[in-house]
Amino acid sequence: MSVSASTPPHTTGAVEHVAIIMDGNGRWATNRGWPRLVGHRKGAERVKQIVSAAPEMGIKWLTIYAFSTENWKRSTEEVLGLMAIFARYIQREADRMAAEGVRMRFIGDRTRLDPKLQRLMAGIEARTAGFSRLNLTVAINYGGRDEILRATRALAREVAEGRLDPADVTEAAISARLDTAGIPDPELVIRTSGETRTSNFLVWQSSYAEYEFTPTLWPDFGPQELADILARFGNRHRRFGGVSAE
Ligand code: IPE
Ligand code: IPE
Ligand code: MG
Repeated sequence: MSVSASTPPHTTGAVEHVAIIMDGNGRWATNRGWPRLVGHRKGAERVKQIVSAAPEMGIKWLTIYAFSTENWKRSTEEVLGLMAIFARYIQREADRMAAEGVRMRFIGDRTRLDPKLQRLMAGIEARTAGFSRLNLTVAINYGGRDEILRATRALAREVAEGRLDPADVTEAAISARLDTAGIPDPELVIRTSGETRTSNFLVWQSSYAEYEFTPTLWPDFGPQELADILARFGNRHRRFGGVSAE
């Protein structure tokens, strides 16, 4: 079955769209006396593993928070290191994603990113556009408020230019101008690392989502923990809860 943007959450009991706030990379590394970037590299390995395991758990949409509009406040070294990890991930994972039927997309304001990274992002989006086994959406320079602000500006422009009647500014009209246009709302949002806040993630889209907060740091979060969380949410694909831990 498929879920459309208009399907109310939880009508089937299945979780098809999971969104993850991948937090705790820095602490994972610092706890071991290592530079924060080592934690981010380990975190990227986890992403690969979760992306490969997700379809067998019945997940069709996976949205992950990789870099927020607030994360520019970090040191130049950490920001550049993260950007390098994103670029490397796209380059090294392209063939595997194609083989596994993964469609990769990005949300967030990409205009502030390095043009080379922007080209890699556009390239992988185009290359994987025909796949649908798993829809992987990566949030880079993403902020829920920023996304709503940009959508609001787009609407204001259309109204000012006489292309849109203010009466037609509906919830659907707003959704259609968000970066996530065409992507259903998540039924479940998971945040790792024990923090119990949403840090500006999917502000509009998560209004009906269930939240799960786990103390596990992202570099320690494996497919088995994801399967366990899904089983708790009554995922009807729970026969796959036996996915091996590592
Ligand atoms: C999450 O891990 C990854 C990003 C925000 C890029 P953190 O880097 O926030 O790790 P902690 O929270 O400092 O441990
Ligand atoms: C949220 O984590 C952003 C990402 C996971 C990319 P942060 O570590 O940046 O959030 P705060 O600062 O704890 O709210
Ligand atoms: Mg953090």
